Amino acid sequence: MSVIQIRGGRPLSGSVRIQGAKNSVLPLLAATLLAEGECVLHNCPNLTDVDHTLEILRSLGCRVKREGDTVTVDPSAPTGYTISDTLMREMRSSVVFLGPILGRMGRARLSYPGGCELGPRPIDLHMASLRAMGARIEEQEGHLECLGGLTGAEIVLSLPSVGCTENIMLAAVRADGVTTVHNAAREPEIVELQDFLNAMGADVRGAGTSMLTVRGGRPLHGAEHTVRPDRIVACTYLSAVASAGGEGEVTGVDWRQLSTVTSVLTEAGCRVKSGPDAIFIAAPERLKAVRPVRTAPYPGFPTDAQAVVMAALCKGEGATVFVENMFSARYRHVDELARMGADIRVEGKVAVVCGVPALHGAKVRSTDLRGGAALAVAGVGAQGETLISGVYHIDRGYQDLCSDLACLGAKIVRLNTTKEEI
Ligand code: EPU
Repeated sequence: MSVIQIRGGRPLSGSVRIQGAKNSVLPLLAATLLAEGECVLHNCPNLTDVDHTLEILRSLGCRVKREGDTVTVDPSAPTGYTISDTLMREMRSSVVFLGPILGRMGRARLSYPGGCELGPRPIDLHMASLRAMGARIEEQEGHLECLGGLTGAEIVLSLPSVGCTENIMLAAVRADGVTTVHNAAREPEIVELQDFLNAMGADVRGAGTSMLTVRGGRPLHGAEHTVRPDRIVACTYLSAVASAGGEGEVTGVDWRQLSTVTSVLTEAGCRVKSGPDAIFIAAPERLKAVRPVRTAPYPGFPTDAQAVVMAALCKGEGATVFVENMFSARYRHVDELARMGADIRVEGKVAVVCGVPALHGAKVRSTDLRGGAALAVAGVGAQGETLISGVYHIDRGYQDLCSDLACLGAKIVRLNTTKEEI
């Protein structure tokens, strides 16, 4: 088993290039299933979630090859339409395969993904949308039995779900006729999926706005694409510099996608300079509290950045209020931050962070992906040694957290250890 060891409490200084985005690459890989020819994705991050997605593609009969950060998928002769219960449980987002499997194979069988560490994560909108397109979906003993024959439809989402918008796009490109999605998610990952589908020959328009239109039924061929940088990983490393003090640079990022987070860090006293391909940050000795941070769908403050920014503000002067509007159980890192000396009170969706002058190192456990990253952010700013266990959560979304933070000057290593030692 692995643990991350951090010797914190010293200012950072350095530069790091940001990996390809997890939340882009997963729907892009699902999209490859729709092509009649080979697809090539460059800059694929090396993550356990990506490994699981490649396993799903293999289990559906695709030929998959990974060389460095390039993944080649040959989906010309898919044979399966089932995702095993094990693979569905490994990764909740495997539900994004429902649309493409139905579109390509005409039927799909997958188990119900259920809840996860962030609280209940229903898929009612996914099912209602695909049903509106003509899919017949039945729930049978914990799995979903789905039959296709999809046609275009007018779909109004009650909330702008990212995964649901992706699922509709992936189903609609193969459906007969026009599909329109109102109140679609506007995340950059939706724009990237549109660009990739269009490179395959699809006709998708409107991504990045609340209304998406897909003219379905066009033949889809193979395509090549370079996965865009991970905005949440970039937010994590900027927060690490804010937490530890000093200065640093993240490169290969689009600053416009991070502006809600960088404006919070600026309000906290950091100096942030955004260039065309990089963001520079210089942090003061001590941050100051900021106005309430409310998570919201893009372009609002991302729920995925809540934990890492909170970790940085634990040492801010004054009290900061966080309101988590997206997931009901996304404060599980709070108890772990408390072990490091943080003073945070949670009441439902509100967390009040009362800044303390200093954090101290401690033995802590990752509770989920971003919660785990938040412990590293706190650790680089804490006096003494922090040991983080539950590293497999972090591996789902960070290709090499330790090397990246080391590039920023942190004293951080990954150790292989036996359970008794920690
Ligand atoms: N929701 C429903 N019904 C549905 C679908 C969603 O009620 O059918 C609710 C969810 O329960 C949640 C809200 O809608 O309360 C938003 O969920 P959404 O569907 O937008 O999230 P997702 O597609 O499941 C993606 C990211 C998450 C990120 C959210 C929000 C991927 C693979 N995952 O999840 O990323 O937090 O959007 O931005 O793209 C992470 O990277 O750590 C992560 C959890």
